[in-house]
Amino acid sequence: MAETTKKTDDASLAELKARIDHNRLPKHVAVIMDGNGRWAQSQGQPRVYGHRNGVKAVDQTTEAATELGIEYLTLYAFSTENWGRPKSEVDALMELLVETIKLEVPKLQKNNIRLQAIGNLLRLPKHSRETLQQAIKETAGNDRMTLVLALNYSAKWEIIEAVRAIANNAREGHIDPAQIDESTFTDALSTKGMPDPELLIRTSGEARISNFLLWQLAYAELHFTPTFWPDFRKAHFYQAIIDFQDRERRFGKTSEQLQKDDK
Ligand code: IPE
Ligand code: IPE
Ligand code: MG
Repeated sequence: MAETTKKTDDASLAELKARIDHNRLPKHVAVIMDGNGRWAQSQGQPRVYGHRNGVKAVDQTTEAATELGIEYLTLYAFSTENWGRPKSEVDALMELLVETIKLEVPKLQKNNIRLQAIGNLLRLPKHSRETLQQAIKETAGNDRMTLVLALNYSAKWEIIEAVRAIANNAREGHIDPAQIDESTFTDALSTKGMPDPELLIRTSGEARISNFLLWQLAYAELHFTPTFWPDFRKAHFYQAIIDFQDRERRFGKTSEQLQKDDK
């Protein structure tokens, strides 16, 4: 019986995957992994149980994105606002981060995935930061996909940092304020060199950005799913890509103009 169910699942997963147009993949997908606490609480478990069970979803999402040929996958793992949670939860999250990175590095190497991080990493506990930096260094030469972890990340913080850096450059005479343009600003962000995410996925039914990549998401397609993060699997990721490909991205133009351009 279990074997039959697995076969059916595999078949429907393959069917979903076959619906994806490989020529129109987003280069960069960003994910707000939300709902761990509610997932755990719905089973009468402590919130941390939800975080632990979120690791499988990270694995599945990374694998699905890599197999499809997505170039950048950014996962929002810890926001600056999350420091406001009970200390026991914050400590557990930092410990889980270290454990997960240690567990994932061999898989990242095997699958040729480069790890990067954005956010104010200096405020992470030393042990977490060092594990992260070591993993970033070890995987630096991989080039199949870049997995970006947003850790102690806040888009407003990132924007202020960029403004400060540009202002300093101007004060020191390296840049003329009249020459500041979108690319000056883009290059001053921690996502420098990465294409903007074309698709943002948020799990758990919440429909907000929560201080994530405010500048970079300016024209992203937003996909909200009620699924809690620990239940998120490849099929959900494929669904999000299919949803993305069903959208008409007009960038301010009219539908008629786009159809003409297609011809
Ligand atoms: C997302 O799940 C994980 C982090 C923010 C670290 P939550 O912990 O926010 O779970 P809910 O939203 O409270 O259910
Ligand atoms: C956003 O989720 C941050 C991460 C997923 C890391 P939150 O659960 O912290 O966001 P809010 O509180 O619902 O806005
Ligand atoms: Mg949440």
